[in-house]
Amino acid sequence: MSVVVEGKNIIRDYHIPGGFMRPARTVRAVKGISFSVELGKTLAIVGESGSGKSTLARIIALIDQSSGGELKIEGKAIDIAKQKPTREMRSKVQMVFQNPYGSLNPRQKIGDVLMEPLLLNTDIPAAERRRRAEEMLVKVGLPAEHFNRYPHMFSGGQRQRIAIARALMLKPTLLVLDEPVSALDLSVQAQVLNLLRDLQEEFNLAYVFISHDLSVVRYIADDVLVMNKGEAVEQGSREELFAAPKHPYTRELFAATPITDIEAIRERVARRKAMRAATA
Ligand SMILES: Nc1ncnc2c1ncn2[C@@H]1O[C@H](COP(=O)(O)OP(=O)(O)O)[C@@H](O)[C@H]1O
Ligand SMILES: [Mg+2]
Repeated sequence: MSVVVEGKNIIRDYHIPGGFMRPARTVRAVKGISFSVELGKTLAIVGESGSGKSTLARIIALIDQSSGGELKIEGKAIDIAKQKPTREMRSKVQMVFQNPYGSLNPRQKIGDVLMEPLLLNTDIPAAERRRRAEEMLVKVGLPAEHFNRYPHMFSGGQRQRIAIARALMLKPTLLVLDEPVSALDLSVQAQVLNLLRDLQEEFNLAYVFISHDLSVVRYIADDVLVMNKGEAVEQGSREELFAAPKHPYTRELFAATPITDIEAIRERVARRKAMRAATA
């Protein structure tokens, strides 16, 4: 067992400046959250919109600073309020967002998108950068020949594959995924979730997977943390949580969400693929 990321009592306050007749105030978006994720495992963070999931995700991904608590990556304490994380530390943790189009430059070829992290963070020569980018394209299920294409030539699901490929270029140990499939059609969601599972196995990645969708969480998670208004109201293994949600908020969340069966969708997609392969 090897813990990749550990958070203890993480807090985040937002200071909202005052205005005319309106006093400044502080909003505590994350109210003391603790968790840990091991190599090769997925912690899903689930909760309604506004519960503080993205705020916590950005802290774990070393993009934003916390207002209190302790964050350790591979056993090393990190406080980005005090000091910038080293390059090495930054490369260990990568983030994937809900809308990959926002993070892809429309004028940048996909190959350049993938090679850029290597160019900025390593001394790897150009030919090797290209080789690794092409290899990663294939690993996320895209042909290496797509190297010279632009983002607009891809579908939403393909763009998310590209964003995932880019996140993996520096060989991270932890991926923080903030609603990575929420903008995709259900059948495409299942494909991207399958890909994430395969990549996790191949690279022994730890995932912090943010979602508001319980069917997605049930499919991907080993452990689940339920957030409500900045607090962790329930935490445990996926089996425990789905078998018997304890907290009233979790029960309410379960009751309010129709759980589509991602497993069934996945089988349907696989069957269709097999049929197409057989007739081709
Ligand atoms: N930059 C910010 N400034 C002030 N308040 C913010 C900021 N970002 C988020 N918040 C507030 O923090 C709370 C949690 O937001 P967020 O982390 O985005 O939740 P979620 O991802 O679960 O929808 C919300 O009340 C939101 O309005
Ligand atoms: Mg969010």
